[in-house]
Amino acid sequence: MATCSRGLEEVLRAELVALGHEEAASGRGMVSFRGDLAAVYRANLWLRTATRVLRLLSEGPAGTREALYELASRVPWEEVVARGQTIMVESAGTAPAFRNTGFASLVVKDAAVDRLRARLGSRPYVDRKLADVRIHVHLASARAGIALDSSGEPLSHRGYRPRGGPAPLSETLAAGVLLLAGYDGTQPLLDPMAGTGTIAIEAALIATRAAPGSRRSFACERWPDHQPACLLQARQAARLRRQPPTAAVVASDNEARAVAACRRNAREAGVGETVKVEAKDVRELVLPGPGAMIVTNPPYGERLGDPAELAGLYRDLGDALKRRASGATAWLLAGNLELAKSIGLRASRRIVLFNGPIECRLLRFDLYEGSRELER
Ligand SMILES: C[S@@+](CC[C@H](N)C(=O)[O-])C[C@H]1O[C@@H](n2cnc3c(N)ncnc32)[C@H](O)[C@@H]1O
Repeated sequence: MATCSRGLEEVLRAELVALGHEEAASGRGMVSFRGDLAAVYRANLWLRTATRVLRLLSEGPAGTREALYELASRVPWEEVVARGQTIMVESAGTAPAFRNTGFASLVVKDAAVDRLRARLGSRPYVDRKLADVRIHVHLASARAGIALDSSGEPLSHRGYRPRGGPAPLSETLAAGVLLLAGYDGTQPLLDPMAGTGTIAIEAALIATRAAPGSRRSFACERWPDHQPACLLQARQAARLRRQPPTAAVVASDNEARAVAACRRNAREAGVGETVKVEAKDVRELVLPGPGAMIVTNPPYGERLGDPAELAGLYRDLGDALKRRASGATAWLLAGNLELAKSIGLRASRRIVLFNGPIECRLLRFDLYEGSRELER
């Protein structure tokens, strides 16, 4: 199963189909597919919108503590945890018997430890942060799925952006927004409020056919059945698929600090040559070419600025789109719908997405020639 933010299920499914998994089926916040270990490696390397790739070990009734313990005891843990390895268990989802998901984790941990002690004669240690084997329990009312997490750090942590500071937009959501917008690397792309550059960098990774996970490692590299040669081959194949971009990718922002961060991150992501970074106010917007797409994530007001000033900024953004972007298509990820109204343009599509806990709308604006006249 590949998990994702809600709203990205269909683009994630399309990504899996493109990787050869025609059978991929989407559910809420996830897409399931079949495959061997090589498929797990490819999914981790290539999926742009998945948060994690999980390998399902067991699925069944788990309406009580005893039922979940029984389900977890039947997993052949001795095949997936080697002697001396550490484990951790995380649970998510909802079930009346496990209002506290930590209790479900404890039950599965006990079952795994008991079975390993009986079969291997030694018990694994639990390490809640850096465990060798990460076990994931998904609770859905009276049933549960028990899986191994093959990714480890979420796949949004591509390794090009420093973690720990304010994280305006996750890499997987930025890629999802681009794919929902129909971006395929052949259209000139502009993010005129680029911040740390996530949208432009993800666009450059798409445009150069780069595997987004190629600069990081995965938890499955510590699995007992890990095949290093197979992963190496998948990494080499990904390197060979890279190609020069065929259309411009431009990122601009009016804050010097953002411009510097954007340049640095693009370099770290290996697309420093592809992303053109400019210090520019959105009011001075210049399209990067005919048939351009504008994809941006303006300030929400959650973290930045006072509401009246922000409404003025959205009005100016709308004005810049009308006056300076005729013929383009603009996609805005808006975290505040009231603010988005100040743009003064009618959206032709609205898609609900989640940026962490914040419910957002991805709005599409078609900027026909003469939009401004029409608006009047
Ligand atoms: C929500 S952040 C964008 C975050 C970005 N998607 C990222 O991944 O880091 C909005 C950005 O808009 C920029 N901004 C605000 N007013 C602007 C203006 N008048 N012209 C250009 N950029 C502006 C801010 O500096 C900020 O970096």
